[in-house]
Amino acid sequence: MLCWFFPHVSVRLDTTNQFADELSGSEFSLKMPVFRFPLANRVLFSYIPGALETRNMEDMHMNNSLDGIFRPKSIAVIGASSKKGSIGNTILHNLIEHHFNGTVFPVNPKARVIHSIKCYSTILDVPDAVDLAVVVVPSDFVAPTLEQCGAKGVKGVVVISSGFKEIGGEGIAKEAELVEIVRKYNMRMIGPNCFGILNTASDISMNATFSRSQPPKGKVAFMSQSGALGEAILGYADELNLGFSMFASVGNKADVSGNALLRYWRDDPQTEVVLLYLESFGNPREFTRIARGMTRKKPVVAVKAGRTDAGARAVSSHTGVLAGIDVGTDALFEQCGVLRVSSVDELFDTAVALTNQPLPRGDRIAIITNAGGPGILATDAVVGLGLRMAKFEDKTLKLLKENLSAVASINNPVDVIAAGGPDSFRIAMDAVLSDDNVDAVIVIFVPPVVVDHHAVISGIVEMIEKHKNDKPVLGCFMAVPSGVSGSEEMVKHKIPIYTFPESAAKAMASLVRCRKRKDTPESETVTFEVDNDRASTIVDQAVEQKRTTILGPEALELLNAYGINIAKSIKTTTLKDVKKAASELGFPVVMKINDPDVLHKTDVGGVATDLRTETEVAEAFTAMEQQFSESNDGFAGVFLQEMVHGGVETIIGMYQDPSFGPLIMFGLGGVYVEVMKDVAFRIHPVTEYNVKEMIESIKGYPLLTGFRGGAAVDLKCLQETILRLSQLVSDFPQLESFDVNPFIVTADHESSRAVDARFVLKCDDST
Ligand SMILES: Nc1ncnc2c1ncn2[C@@H]1O[C@H](COP(=O)(O)OP(=O)(O)OP(=O)(O)O)[C@@H](O)[C@H]1O
Ligand SMILES: [Mg+2]
Repeated sequence: MLCWFFPHVSVRLDTTNQFADELSGSEFSLKMPVFRFPLANRVLFSYIPGALETRNMEDMHMNNSLDGIFRPKSIAVIGASSKKGSIGNTILHNLIEHHFNGTVFPVNPKARVIHSIKCYSTILDVPDAVDLAVVVVPSDFVAPTLEQCGAKGVKGVVVISSGFKEIGGEGIAKEAELVEIVRKYNMRMIGPNCFGILNTASDISMNATFSRSQPPKGKVAFMSQSGALGEAILGYADELNLGFSMFASVGNKADVSGNALLRYWRDDPQTEVVLLYLESFGNPREFTRIARGMTRKKPVVAVKAGRTDAGARAVSSHTGVLAGIDVGTDALFEQCGVLRVSSVDELFDTAVALTNQPLPRGDRIAIITNAGGPGILATDAVVGLGLRMAKFEDKTLKLLKENLSAVASINNPVDVIAAGGPDSFRIAMDAVLSDDNVDAVIVIFVPPVVVDHHAVISGIVEMIEKHKNDKPVLGCFMAVPSGVSGSEEMVKHKIPIYTFPESAAKAMASLVRCRKRKDTPESETVTFEVDNDRASTIVDQAVEQKRTTILGPEALELLNAYGINIAKSIKTTTLKDVKKAASELGFPVVMKINDPDVLHKTDVGGVATDLRTETEVAEAFTAMEQQFSESNDGFAGVFLQEMVHGGVETIIGMYQDPSFGPLIMFGLGGVYVEVMKDVAFRIHPVTEYNVKEMIESIKGYPLLTGFRGGAAVDLKCLQETILRLSQLVSDFPQLESFDVNPFIVTADHESSRAVDARFVLKCDDST
């Protein structure tokens, strides 16, 4: 399969006012390099520069104001051209070729007729009303053109031309001017610097892009922040027979943002699945609000470019170090139920499954195969993605044993073996689809020479129909010779076909995640009664003293004011007091250095645990006193702490992300937290359900539920502690980050304790 790709899709039209001539220049012709999809594209996607972020005033506009853009009755193509292959020509051609259900007016001062249609010098000369203007003129002429559009009463504009914010410098001012004009005339604008828009609804039928392809009509709406991807997306959709309801390349998002589109598609009855290709978030909080509300009904699947961390940052908290650039996006998507996939082909694989198959009831997957290797690969992928291999009912095993070949494997994955023909597949499909322990099926077929693959496919289709398509079935057809596959029959019967088992498993995992999202209860943030005055005193004191940290016993006090259990601590500076403190706390005790310059006490020999006798306490004190007396600021004393026994060390942290605001982190804690990296993030404020999910999502979760005979910890206590800390984040915006590490959670609330905490205050005290 070939795929068109525009490495430089920008329409640079900024040299002359003879735009008709410019538009026919070779720069704008549609001659493009050809790459194989998806591998070549995967590489190329990374070259696409991030679009610049634009905060906009979308909330000031009514949602249905996008109707002027997506549901126009008449369209002017300003910058239409008779030069074949030019953008101005292709857009006009596409509107006509794909039967736009309204009137089209070419506008070009240099032409009388274009595409056999009367051409107008300016939009003001068009005798009828114009709803939408597609603008393909040099960047210097876009502003005056929009003024004319405004005067004409145009409702929406799609500005294809580039040379705006994306080039920086004067482009930024030029773009601001466009926004001003659009606001002045109460118009809406897509772009500038975009690939166009599309609406397949029969009463509209609008392809206002310069694409060579037209996707089939369907239920998927696609937003791309990269114009360069536009052609690849529309071409691939066409090839996969994936039906689109609408498509929009949003370009610089100067007016209509991704959030505005998401809202529009949320309310669009034709759209059942929304796909997003994002490079940046304009307003992540608004995105969360919209997506949270819609994903229970309409799946939203997103590829967000820029997964890699920008590298180590100058942060001192564990949470800050662990909060790579991308965790905010992951947390955001997770919290609002958006399915994040890692590549554009995975986006399509998921969309094909979502639009053609029902959602499974659960995550128990059956695999049927006629080849061992692919069956194992599929099993590995299924388990690796967190799904479960279904455990068949006895009746299923009996049926398979009695009816399949003696050498077939009847346990999941069912291997009907290479010689197993249409009947074997039919029997296996019938049996597993009838099994109440099976929620979904992946059927793998590698056509052996001796088997009639058409008959196998017919058999599979027949069984799916017999079971009324009540469980999702995804196919994986490997090494099927092209042109003789018979897989068209599967496609006709809406059974998605994947080339590799891993892709089928990933798509299945997306279906399961969508089901989970549908079943997720609505959940709220909770408020506890806390001693806010005591906490404020601690924070205010630190701010007044111009300190940037709150450490040691003071930090634990702050937690305690918020109702969190802490290990009792006593500060001391002399050997005599240290002995007294030990006997007051009761052995064994823990000794920690009390030094504001020490970030991580263990690293400098500043923690001695399990001190069982007065002698051990005295020895530890003398050693610390000696060691720290040699440091620059001298020895400031230690604090003794009660020793917590058993339990699991966890970390609960917060980090202020520049775009997403405070992120709450939970994970396995202790001194090795940065090595283990077993943590999960959510965007503050978190709800009860977010916290539950966050706790359950870490790899070490089994340690919390009682691993190898160990006692299960008090999960409710853990959940409550995280929620109380989230409340503290809301109440104290002065906090830049914190680590509660470890919070030792034991089998009961009473004995669970925070034993170490560190708060970092924002340097700027304007908050
Ligand atoms: N009161 C206590 N009871 C039991 N174990 C403790 C106690 N205090 C500390 N520990 C153990 O010592 C380890 C290090 O202690 P602590 O977290 O106070 O020091 P730290 O080096 O400053 O930590 P961090 O790595 O978070 O900077 C803890 O992870 C825990 O294993
Ligand atoms: Mg610690």
